[in-house]
Amino acid sequence: VTSRLPNLPVLLLGLGMSCAARPDTTAQAFPYAVFADSRDPPTATVLTPVERDAYDLGHAVFNTQFVPAGTPQASRRDGVGPLFNAPACDGCHNDGALGRGISGDGPLPAQLVIQLRAPVASERGDPVYGRTLNTAALPGLLPEGKPSVRYIEITGHYADGGAWSLRRPEYRIDELTVGSLAAGTVLSPRMAPALFGLGQLQHVPSEVIAGLARSPAPGTHGAVAWHRRDGRLQLGRFGWQGDSVSLADQTGRALAREMGLTSNERSHDDCTTVERACQVMQNGGIPEISSEFFDALVDFQSRLAVPAPPQSADPAAVAEGKALFQGLGCSGCHREQLPLEAAIGQPSTIAPYTDLLLHDLGLGLADHNVDGRAVPSRWRTAPLWGLGYALRRGDASLLHDGRARGTAEAVLWHDGEARAARNSYIELPADERRALDAFLRSL
Ligand code: HEC
Ligand code: HEC
Repeated sequence: VTSRLPNLPVLLLGLGMSCAARPDTTAQAFPYAVFADSRDPPTATVLTPVERDAYDLGHAVFNTQFVPAGTPQASRRDGVGPLFNAPACDGCHNDGALGRGISGDGPLPAQLVIQLRAPVASERGDPVYGRTLNTAALPGLLPEGKPSVRYIEITGHYADGGAWSLRRPEYRIDELTVGSLAAGTVLSPRMAPALFGLGQLQHVPSEVIAGLARSPAPGTHGAVAWHRRDGRLQLGRFGWQGDSVSLADQTGRALAREMGLTSNERSHDDCTTVERACQVMQNGGIPEISSEFFDALVDFQSRLAVPAPPQSADPAAVAEGKALFQGLGCSGCHREQLPLEAAIGQPSTIAPYTDLLLHDLGLGLADHNVDGRAVPSRWRTAPLWGLGYALRRGDASLLHDGRARGTAEAVLWHDGEARAARNSYIELPADERRALDAFLRSL
C-alpha cells in the first residue's frame, strides 16, 4: 500500500492541509489531468472546498486499512473479514491505478482475485466458498485456499518472421479449508483494473450503448450487459464482464466479497452457511461501513481524472498508429468517442476507447471450470484511456487476468469477434507494429 494517508484518524485531523501542491486540473481538457504524484490522483473537474473535503475523505477511506471488529480505538475502521482478500481498496487498486502486476509463476498477488461462479450464469457462487476465494483470514480462521499460477509459454511468428511469445495461465488452488469446490464451479481470475474516468463512463446514456449493439461494426456482435436490479433493467458497465450497474453496486460488492465488510448496499459478506467458524465471529456493527464512508468512497471514484496523454517523442509514429488502429478494425469495439448525458454540464463527448459492450474473444481467453473445461465467456471492451500512464508506471499486466505483458501480447490474445483484427495485425511489418504500440502508449 502506497498510501500517503496511512489511516483515517490521522487524515481527519489533516483535512484541508494537502491542497497546496495539487497540479492545475484546469490546464487539461476534461476529464484528463496530469498525475504528477501517483499517490495523490487528481480530479476530473475543479472542486469546490466542500466537494474537495468529500473527495479527500473518500480517498482516505479508499486507503484505510480496515481492522478486525473489536480492535481498541478502531473508531469506524473495524469489521474487516473474517474472510477477505485485502484490508483496503488501495491494497489492490493502488490509488486508483492498476495493481502492481504479476511477476511470474507462484502464489497470486492480492490484486489477482479468483472469483467463483455457479455453472449457470448467475449471481450465485460456489455453495461452500461463495463468490470470491478469500485468501486472507482473521486470527483463528484459515484462508479459504492458496491459489497459484503457472505460465505456459506459447511462441509464434509474425508474417515478417519476427517472433512473439505469449503466456497461458494455469491456476491451481491448494489447501482448501472445507473440501473441494463444487462440481462445475467456474474459476474466474480477475485483475483489479485501473479506476480512471469511471465517473464519465457512468454518464454514457444506456440508449447510446444499446444503439451501438444494434449497429455493430463488421464481424462483431457486441451484447449489452443488461441486469435486472431494483425491479428494472440496468446496463452493466463496470467490471471486466459488465457485472456492475453503478459505482455503488461495485463498491458494495468489493466491500462484501473482497474485504468482508457489510454496507447498506450489501448486508452479507462472502461467508457462506457452510463456513460456521466465519459465521459466528464478532461483526463490526450493522452495517460495518457507515453510509458516510460508503458515499465518500463512491464520490472519490466518480471524480477521479483520467491521466493526461503523455507527450510522445515520435508524433509521426503515433499518427500512423492511430490510422492503423482504425484500419485494422480495433475502433469497431474500442470506440474512440462516446457521448455523455447532457445533464452533467460537461463537454458532451469523451474518448474512452470502448463501446461498453460484451464481446466473445474466443476460448483462449475464456474462464475454466474446476474440471479444466473452458466456458464461453464475454468481455466488456476494455477502455484504453490511461493506458500510456499505466504502461509508463510499469504495470504491464493487461487483459482480465493480467496475462499480457504489453500491448502486442494483448492484441495477439484477441480472437473470436476480433480474429480478423488480430490476423491483420500479424501481417503488419515490424515498423507498423511499433507505430501501433506508440499510439496505444499515447492514450
Ligand atoms: C482483493 C483485491 C480488491 C480489493 C480489496 C478491491 N478491489 Fe475493486 N476490483 C478488484 C477486481 C479483481 C476487480 C475486477 C472485478 C470484475 O471484473 O468482476 C475490481 C473492480 C473494481 C471496479 C470496477 C472498475 C471498472 O473499470 O469497471 C471498481 C469501481 C472497484 N473495483 C472499486 C473498489 C473499491 C471502492 C474497493 C474498496 C471498497 C475495492 N474495489 C476493493 C479487486 C479488488
Ligand atoms: C471484437 C471487439 C474488439 C476488437 C475488434 C478489438 N478489441 Fe481490444 N479488447 C476487446 C475486449 C473485449 C478486451 C478485454 C479482453 C479481456 O480482458 O480478456 C480488449 C482488450 C484490449 C487491450 C488490453 C487493455 C487492458 O487494459 O487490459 C488492448 C491493448 C486492446 N484490446 C487493443 C486492441 C487493438 C490494438 C485492437 C486492434 C488490433 C483491438 N484491441 C481490437 C475487444 C476488442
